[in-house]
Amino acid sequence: MLKSETGRCILFRYSKTFILFACAIFYLCTASSDETEDATCDNDGTCSFVSEPSVPPECQLVMAESTLPNGGWGVFTLIDRPERGTPLLYGDVVVQVTDLNHTYAAALRRLLDDYWWSAEETGGFYEGQQVLSSIPGIGMLANGLIVQEHNVLPFVPMVDEAGLTRTESPGAGAITHYHNYTWFVKKPMVAGDEIFVPYSPHWFSERNARIQQNAPASRKTTTRRHLEFLRQYGFCLDNVKPGRSVLPDAGRGLFAARNIRQGSVVLPVPVMAITDPRALDITRVKKPSSQVDYSKQLLLNYCFGHNESSVLLYPYGPGMHLVNHGGGQYTNVRLEWDTVPNDVSWTNLTQWQDPQAPRAPKFLLKLIALRDIAVGQEILLDYGPDWIEAWVRHVETWTPSSPGKYEEPYTPSYVMDDVVKVLRTQEELQTYPYPANIFTSCFYRYEDIARSTQVDDTDPSTLVTVQWQQTRHTFEFMNLRPCTVLERNESNGLFTVRILNRFGLSAKERVPSVHIVTHVPRKAIRFSDKLYTTDQHLKNAFRHPIGLSDDLFPDQWKDLKVKDF
Ligand SMILES: *[C@@H]1O[C@H](CO)[C@@H](O)[C@H](O)[C@H]1NC(C)=O
Ligand SMILES: *[C@@H]1O[C@H](CO)[C@@H](O)[C@H](O)[C@H]1NC(C)=O
Ligand SMILES: *[C@@H]1O[C@H](CO)[C@@H](O)[C@H](O)[C@H]1NC(C)=O
Ligand SMILES: *[C@@H]1O[C@H](CO)[C@@H](O)[C@H](O)[C@H]1NC(C)=O
Ligand SMILES: *[C@@H]1O[C@H](CO)[C@@H](O)[C@H](O)[C@H]1NC(C)=O
Repeated sequence: MLKSETGRCILFRYSKTFILFACAIFYLCTASSDETEDATCDNDGTCSFVSEPSVPPECQLVMAESTLPNGGWGVFTLIDRPERGTPLLYGDVVVQVTDLNHTYAAALRRLLDDYWWSAEETGGFYEGQQVLSSIPGIGMLANGLIVQEHNVLPFVPMVDEAGLTRTESPGAGAITHYHNYTWFVKKPMVAGDEIFVPYSPHWFSERNARIQQNAPASRKTTTRRHLEFLRQYGFCLDNVKPGRSVLPDAGRGLFAARNIRQGSVVLPVPVMAITDPRALDITRVKKPSSQVDYSKQLLLNYCFGHNESSVLLYPYGPGMHLVNHGGGQYTNVRLEWDTVPNDVSWTNLTQWQDPQAPRAPKFLLKLIALRDIAVGQEILLDYGPDWIEAWVRHVETWTPSSPGKYEEPYTPSYVMDDVVKVLRTQEELQTYPYPANIFTSCFYRYEDIARSTQVDDTDPSTLVTVQWQQTRHTFEFMNLRPCTVLERNESNGLFTVRILNRFGLSAKERVPSVHIVTHVPRKAIRFSDKLYTTDQHLKNAFRHPIGLSDDLFPDQWKDLKVKDF
């Protein structure tokens, strides 16, 4: 028995054929009366009601063309948002991409230049030596621009495995653990305002350069659109919301946040082309054994592909990353192109990655409701025969990952943070070690110390002792570094730690000496997972793109005989 987030009850039972379709039957018992429309639902889950198509009147956030020249898509509010700190939209997932192979990274050029975030924004930097964060939804759709002050701020994602443990579920490692990354109102806005995310010179460098070239030098032009325009040409982003999937081994899922009428747009799905799937291959040489691990980026699971094409399409709008596969009659949405891809600009794949080329064509798919979908029902797509076959094979052959250095005893860091109240000192760890996969990190802003002239730590042999202090930015992920606990003061609950460096820190951020920090509170110390130990790095994790059906996949992109992922 599962309770839907809206409190209405959903009964579900697993179908006998669930292995085949990896899906479950569920019934919606009652429909709400507090919604604007009433749905009546049959026992087989089909519902019917009457409503207007396109952007529904209750919609509060839409995707539409940005007000910035060359800005691509933008996000607009349809309601006034006077209060700071209110969430803009449901929180979305974050996908951590590790150690891209530079030989093929050109195939991701547009994504890299225009859309990806530093892992320091999302806390994903311990996933690998080089980590980039994909923040689908607001993080990738909305523009960030130096001439236009941002009006939303992100809040850290939550991290957990959604019930898919490596000891029990074949779905382990097949989904991202980072979720509920939420954007909050920073500056009051009125209906029609475009949303802007914080600008940093390091992010979206090329995209901004391109937009700026075409932007007026002093920009007084409005970044607000007429509500009628947005309702007519926009795509509603909040018809749906995340929840825990009703399917086994699926983890999270996407659910209808309001009644959605058959044939209407559930969600816009803007996609970016990845022109060489090898860009998502990972070749990792293990030191010191020199053994080579071959695997694929977790990002592949979120891409659309076709077995006769080397083109992958990565959806970067909100929600799509949460849509699960439902088989047969449980499928309640299908994909459709917003504009049919027959234009010549769709053919030349190299052009998409060329920074000098004119703006990449807007590839926009839409999720369309195959039947009336009632509020609280899970949105389920058919991932296609290739995917189903690969998944069935995976489930049949899957065994829990074999015990190895990090696998036994294995406890993810977020569980450790919940259960371990008293942190152990280095000395105590000799006798009572933590699980081998985790280590401790501390929020510590070295920059503050380095700037003060009292401390000279340029000589690596010096021992520097400083007192921990909290400043405005202390708890930002970029200040989270490995640390070892040296002492625990039982009377005030504070710790003395040694601060270490992590991958990716710039020279001026690295502590050169033996760096001791006293008076560190428990809240500034976290458990972290060692590099390459989380589920997304499991050797037996499922990897396969979502199949885009033959009729949707443009023939001019079918450059292969049969593609086997
Ligand atoms: C997501 O985060 C918001 C606030 O950051 C919180 O209120 C909400 O409960 C979280 N959702 C889930 C599913 O944990
Ligand atoms: C990149 O991929 C090529 C071909 O698979 C491989 O030979 C090379 O070692 C890879 N580079 C890295 C840094 O993994
Ligand atoms: C495809 O685009 C690339 C880069 O813009 C260009 O150099 C090439 O000539 C184009 N090819 C065709 C057939 O148009
Ligand atoms: C532990 O904390 C107490 C209370 O703040 C303090 O008086 C004491 O000196 C501390 N002990 C050590 C060893 O730092
Ligand atoms: C390739 O994909 C198409 C469309 O999904 C499917 O009909 C066909 O059976 C697949 N071919 C192979 C060899 O798997």
